[in-house]
Amino acid sequence: MATSAPGKVILFGEHAVVYGEPSLSFALDLRFQVEAELTSGTTRVNGEPLDERHHAYLIQALRLHWGDAPLDLRTRTTLPSASGVGSSAALSVAMVGALLALKAGANPAPEVVARGAFETERSTQGAASPNDTSVCTAGGAVTLARTRLDGTQPLWEITSEERTWFVQRIPLPKLNLVLGNSGVRARTGDVVARVREAVQKRAFVRRAITEIGEVTREGIEALRRADLRRVGELMDHNEDLLRRLGVETPPLRRLLDAAHAAPGTLGAKLTGKGAGGSILVLTDRPSDAVAALERAGAKPLVVVPTPRGLEVSF
Ligand code: PMV
Repeated sequence: MATSAPGKVILFGEHAVVYGEPSLSFALDLRFQVEAELTSGTTRVNGEPLDERHHAYLIQALRLHWGDAPLDLRTRTTLPSASGVGSSAALSVAMVGALLALKAGANPAPEVVARGAFETERSTQGAASPNDTSVCTAGGAVTLARTRLDGTQPLWEITSEERTWFVQRIPLPKLNLVLGNSGVRARTGDVVARVREAVQKRAFVRRAITEIGEVTREGIEALRRADLRRVGELMDHNEDLLRRLGVETPPLRRLLDAAHAAPGTLGAKLTGKGAGGSILVLTDRPSDAVAALERAGAKPLVVVPTPRGLEVSF
């Protein structure tokens, strides 16, 4: 049997969502695929034995959601890894979806996969929000919040020891977005742990987390009105706050400056964990943003959202 799940782009709220502030993200038309079959002998991934360093998420998914029966696993992806576009979440969703489908011999309920994939990410990374695993399961555009938001469709709730997130589908206007990958890789767990330390130590970082929540709520309103100029301003403001969290690095700043110098740019921010990874540019002129990011040494990609979430086939 086979599964696939999309990557994602966070438009507002990364990092702050770990502390219960709202977020807004959508699924990206790049996917992670898993094929899983029962086998004899030992579990192998792409013909190789499991190894803690390279297969941390797979091993954790097997620990949490599988017994001892050996599996032949094959993985394939078009998502760049450690680049802020949700490759580990897509992998966790596709893998947990495959394990639950194999166990039951039927399609698993999306919320069960989303919860299982969140547990997989959280226990592999040390800390996480259910943002990425929810949007990679659901597809389309998704907001997480502490309450039900007007004009959204409730999907499911996810509870950790500390809090509950309401996961909701949200309509988005047409947006021209371009991703610029800095090529600098960073591990989500390390970056989230660094932010957590700063949150514990410094009041101004805690204030930045709360303010990101406010910017995200305003961003959701601006998107509802299709006021893209305001959405762009709020992306810039979100970036100022992410800088206060310490996740904007000089290579990301160079890409952001290049994006701002391009005609048609409405706003730009890093997306995902930062400290490397990618920036996201909202623009009226995608080809100018692509050219500017190429000149600045990034690998640009025009963002194509997808309604397709987790898919399972037997
Ligand atoms: O960089 P990514 O794709 O792993 O996204 C991380 C998003 C964070 O908000 C920083 C962490 C989380 O679990 O929500």
